[in-house]
Amino acid sequence: MCGIVGYIGNKQAADIVVKGLKLLEYRGYDSAGVAVIDDSTVSINKRKGKVEDLLKMVDVSKIPGTLAMGHTRWATHGAPNDVNAHPHTDSTGNIALIHNGIIENYTVIKTELLNKGYTFKSETDSEVLAVFIGMIYEKVHDVEMAVRLALNEVEGTFGLVVISTHEPDKIIVARRGSPIVLGIGDGEYIVASDASAIVEYMKRVIYLNDDEMAILTREGYSTKTIKNETVNAEIHELELNIEQIRKGNFDHYMLKEIFEQPSTFKDSIRGRLLVEDGNVKLGGVGAVAEKLKNARRIIITACGTSWHSALVGEYMIEHLAQIPVEVEYASEFRYRNPVIYHDDVVIGISQSGETADTLAALREAKLKGATILGLVNVVGSTIARETDAGVYLHAGPEIGVASTKAFTSQLAVLSLLAMYLGRQRVLSMADGKTLATELAALPDKIQYILDRADQIKQISLAYTNATNFLYLGRGYNFPVALEGALKLKEISYIHAEGYPAAEMKHGPIALIDENMPVVFVATKDEIYDKVVSNLEEVRARGGRVIAIASEGDTNIARLAEHVIYIPNTLPQFTPVLAAIPMQLMAYYIAVQRGCDVDKPRNLAKSVTVE
Ligand code: F6R
Repeated sequence: MCGIVGYIGNKQAADIVVKGLKLLEYRGYDSAGVAVIDDSTVSINKRKGKVEDLLKMVDVSKIPGTLAMGHTRWATHGAPNDVNAHPHTDSTGNIALIHNGIIENYTVIKTELLNKGYTFKSETDSEVLAVFIGMIYEKVHDVEMAVRLALNEVEGTFGLVVISTHEPDKIIVARRGSPIVLGIGDGEYIVASDASAIVEYMKRVIYLNDDEMAILTREGYSTKTIKNETVNAEIHELELNIEQIRKGNFDHYMLKEIFEQPSTFKDSIRGRLLVEDGNVKLGGVGAVAEKLKNARRIIITACGTSWHSALVGEYMIEHLAQIPVEVEYASEFRYRNPVIYHDDVVIGISQSGETADTLAALREAKLKGATILGLVNVVGSTIARETDAGVYLHAGPEIGVASTKAFTSQLAVLSLLAMYLGRQRVLSMADGKTLATELAALPDKIQYILDRADQIKQISLAYTNATNFLYLGRGYNFPVALEGALKLKEISYIHAEGYPAAEMKHGPIALIDENMPVVFVATKDEIYDKVVSNLEEVRARGGRVIAIASEGDTNIARLAEHVIYIPNTLPQFTPVLAAIPMQLMAYYIAVQRGCDVDKPRNLAKSVTVE
């Protein structure tokens, strides 16, 4: 949450920073702001709204200066308005900062500062930190030391960039809980919340760890802890490429990412299937193979869409490997003193690898002695670095705020993991082979659905004025019903609920009338007949049924107002295929309603606050 970019070098800085902000805007779009130091003065432009709104106010290409920083905000403390927008300054206006995170003890610090006569313009915790640093500077006359001393008093989280006219050729950066990546160039550096703002200019990066700082000048950089101990930070080579973060010919990132799924799914399984052995190869978990073999229980923790994929994972692992699995909302797990055994394996699933709740849940599990694994998309992210082992999703950068390709890649990797665990225990080679063969066939089946996107669009347009939706499914198709409902509500703002189809008659059936569209995932599997009975129950009450059904099922057309056919597959893999029409439906409905699908209101990608 919140996008941060800073540049120091010899180029015009504001342009580079704003270009970076545009790429990081998916992290927050309540306000945008830039600060530039030129000729020992700092100029700040900031505004409520998106980066585009800022650019209507100021032509950044005309701002001189080779040191700048910028911020896109996802509001925590204080309404999204011009005053609360970052950058914030100390009381003299000489020290400016941008901040991602929450200063939890800001009221205590603010009271102390108010008592000393300091005043504040905004309602933000970030301005309190700026003024606090300024107050310390008045005593120590050293910006780095002032930042360090302030941060040692601060509780909460920060990804922080500080610049100052006192030392106009320096950027100070610090992190606790909010990601910071440093791009290392030749006499120039970029600091950002994630590598997408860096990759166009630099390939070598350093990922700061919690409680670390970096001091950047045109002559070089140093890294240390906020306790002032030297850190020898490792330099990594970025695998990201600039094409991956461009929208191409698509109207929205979300649509691009939906259409990328045949290839991203393939990338997630590439080199990992041993079809002839009915097995899989997961290099990332080799170091903990024995722990996995002896695990008494698996706990999967995640949030949002990743939590939905975790539910599919639960069904698959229990089915294929016969290991008990529990799925936990990370935000609940971390605060309720969960029972964790030493032979538990706790898996965190996260696209961003930075979700604060998931990270905290994994840390808690680690503290209590469990082996922790990360199924993560973003390479070098905090969860990827802090877990004992893991499997990357290889879905490439996901920029649309609503998760699409990461979800299907999570399902791919969970399928692989379930097969791996199964083969360690009870899964036969023959069954493994059947699964591996079908998994390899899924990219073409995803493509088959995408080739029929126009039909799905036409169906979707019949429902753009709906005010409520129900999504129902059973077995493996229940979690994907939850995911379908989440996709629709987050980007179209239509209220939608996912439910296990059979559970409907215990309450939600009361909602059914002729205005209620109900999406049924009714694929041909063992419980198909039961799902059809549930569908009849909805129809009998006048509900408008949209069925996602297996190709060749002519019976269903009789019962549903609309049918979207998906290719046949194994029951474990229907969530992958059923997700595609649901993503497309949500997209087309949201676009038709005039919603900003890539930046839905109130949301941001990478939820780094609690
Ligand atoms: C929904 C969505 C969110 C995320 C959730 C977890 O489309 O994107 O629900 O799935 O915030 O994020 P990650 O996977 O980055 O931990």
